[in-house]
This record gives sequence, structure tokens and C-alpha cells, in this order.
Amino acid sequence: MSAVHHNGHVPHIAIIMDGNGRWAKAQHRPRVFGHRAGVKAVRRTVEDARDLGITCLTLYSFSTENWTRPRAEIAALFDLLHRYIESDLEKLTAEGVRVRIIGSREGLTDDLIDVINRTETKTAHNTAFSLNIAFNYGGRDEILRAARKAIDSGLSSEELTADHMESFLDTAGIPGPDLVIRTSGEYRISNFLLWQAAYAEFVFTDVLWPDFSRADLEAALENYSGRERRFGNVNKADVA
Ligand code: IPE
Ligand code: IPE
Ligand code: MG
Repeated sequence: MSAVHHNGHVPHIAIIMDGNGRWAKAQHRPRVFGHRAGVKAVRRTVEDARDLGITCLTLYSFSTENWTRPRAEIAALFDLLHRYIESDLEKLTAEGVRVRIIGSREGLTDDLIDVINRTETKTAHNTAFSLNIAFNYGGRDEILRAARKAIDSGLSSEELTADHMESFLDTAGIPGPDLVIRTSGEYRISNFLLWQAAYAEFVFTDVLWPDFSRADLEAALENYSGRERRFGNVNKADVA
């Protein structure tokens, strides 16, 4: 199966990776056990997406609201991101993957910021595949930071355009997602890509993130390929 749909456009897929805690709980294990299994699902999904011809993938891994969780869980999530990047950087670089971490740097340790900067710099010229990790990310926070950049840029309110705003977002240069997938049977956006997902298609699945498989990704793409995207326009066939 190929991921090319809608007039040859390869969809940008974004995933709200939810359900690690419930996955662990079902096995009477601590939540962190679920997060570790979640990292394995990330590795698999990056491989599967590339295999299916996808060229841009954005993964939601820590939200600005996740700071309300127990300190130990937060520390574990930070540690997992750090180790994931460190251990996979060589491979991702060799495979032509460009890695970007979107979200606020506020509250991150200097160590983690350093790894993020090294990763983004090292993979900046890669073009085969775009992997965006939303970490310490919130759509409202991103838009607020973009508004501050707009003010600091010296543009007048009359001059400011939507294109300027996009250039101030963390996703500057990355087209918005065509398809947003959320796992674990929750039907909400939880502050993910609020600006960028304005016209995204959504697929919800009950599968818990650690169990998310290639078949689930294929099913989501299949579902997406049957959608009619209108972007506010009318169905061409209905126009006399
Ligand atoms: C998703 O799994 C990972 C993060 C939000 C960091 P959860 O940790 O939210 O798992 P559930 O929703 O409690 O099952
Ligand atoms: C959304 O999951 C954030 C991530 C997947 C990183 P949450 O588990 O934090 O979302 P809510 O609280 O159920 O909305
Ligand atoms: Mg959750």
C-alpha cells in the first residue's frame, strides 16, 4: 500500500500517542512501563511510516498540561525522550531523517536543550523524511509565543498576515497535518497543533499507543484516503 493520495499529495500525519498508562495498568505494571513500551511503538511507527511512503510525521509526546503529573513520571518522560534521541540519532541521520522538536524550551534542563539543538543541527540538511516531536508542546502556548514574536518583529497590526504568523510558529516551514490520529479511544485534541490542524482530517482508534501497529497505521491511511476534503468549498460535482 502506498501513502500517496489526493492528487499525488503525500499526507503529513500527526499522532496523539495516548494510552500508555492504561496499557501498563492492564498489566498491573507502573505507568512508566507503558511509556517505555510507547517508545518502542514510536520506533516501529517511524519505520512503518517511511515504508508506506509517508515523508512527514509529527508525534505528540509531552504536553504543556502534562506538567501537572507526578514528578517521577515527568522525569521518566524527559529521560525517555533524551535517551531516544541519543540512541537513534546516528541511525536517523544516516537514513536522511530531519528531526525537529517543537514546543517550548522553558522548563527543560540544559542537558536536554543541548541534545535537542545538536539533533536539529545535525539533521537540518536531511530531506528524505521529516520527524517532528512535540515535546513540552501546547497549541495555545505556541500561538502565544508566536504572537510575542510578531510584536517583537516590529510589524504593524495592518501588516501582520497569516503567513507571518505561520513563520513565527514552531512548525515554520512545515506544512500542517493532513491527518491527525489519536489512539486510546479519547475524542479530543488536547491542545495539539491548534493552528495547524484547522483543516486536518481526524481518525480515532481505541488501540492503546503501545499496541499501535503497522496495520493500524494502514487502516488510518485507508480511512483518510476515502475522505472528501472541501476546505470550505462546495463539492465540485454539485456545481452546475
Ligand atoms: C500518553 O499516554 C503519553 C503522554 C501523555 C505523555 P498517557 O500517559 O496519557 O496514558 P493514559 O492516557 O493515562 O492511558
Ligand atoms: C495528550 O494526552 C498529550 C500527549 C499524548 C502527549 P493526555 O493523556 O495528556 O491528554 P488528556 O489529558 O487525556 O486530554
Ligand atoms: Mg492520556
